[in-house]
Amino acid sequence: MIIAVDGPAASGKGTIARALARHYGLPHLDTGLLYRAVAVSVLREGRDPASEADALAACGFADSLLDDPELRTDEVGKAASVVSAHPPVRAALLERQRSFAQQPGGAVLDGRDIGTVIAPDADAKLFVKATPTIRAQRRHLELRKHGANPSLDKVLADIRTRDERDSHRSEAPMRQAEDAQVLDTSFLSIDAAIQRAIALVEARTRGA
Ligand code: DC
Repeated sequence: MIIAVDGPAASGKGTIARALARHYGLPHLDTGLLYRAVAVSVLREGRDPASEADALAACGFADSLLDDPELRTDEVGKAASVVSAHPPVRAALLERQRSFAQQPGGAVLDGRDIGTVIAPDADAKLFVKATPTIRAQRRHLELRKHGANPSLDKVLADIRTRDERDSHRSEAPMRQAEDAQVLDTSFLSIDAAIQRAIALVEARTRGA
């Protein structure tokens, strides 16, 4: 069984994808990490994420980089959004994601274009969303936990910029697949969102 989970930053898609993977005993790939690995490589080389050539040159990163905690920072997230808008970068990372999705037994993948491009034949597709304000509040709380203290307005502005870039790029923009089921987590606890996600996958795969 292949499960595709897409949605914007801080929608809860990562948490939901991990929980689905645990529930169904499937391997999970957070595809955002691939773009983050490209971004961190570009930044460490002192190069420019907006340069297509610089970003493409960083696509051959070593697998071990995917475990680097620096990938999780906000700065790297922003640069990941920039490198991901270059079509050749998306092409360079495509096969790796497709073969992860196609492994025997299935997989859960989360990102922006899983249901539309990476695994259009997925058995279940969720599009996880929440209002920009609620996503900004979640991100703000998380940043404060890690010792940073940007204003809520700044976090909200960053979220809006990222949404705008991710959903308006020319290649594989973030959008809900036509056959995706929408899960709005705005007013759900993490547990409730996970239970709802499982129910949606069950409904789609068992025809309930
Ligand atoms: O999910 P994330 O915040 O780790 O993703 C970082 C950036 O990577 C996101 O802003 C856009 C890009 N991305 C993408 O273009 N396609 C994906 N499938 C996953 C992430």
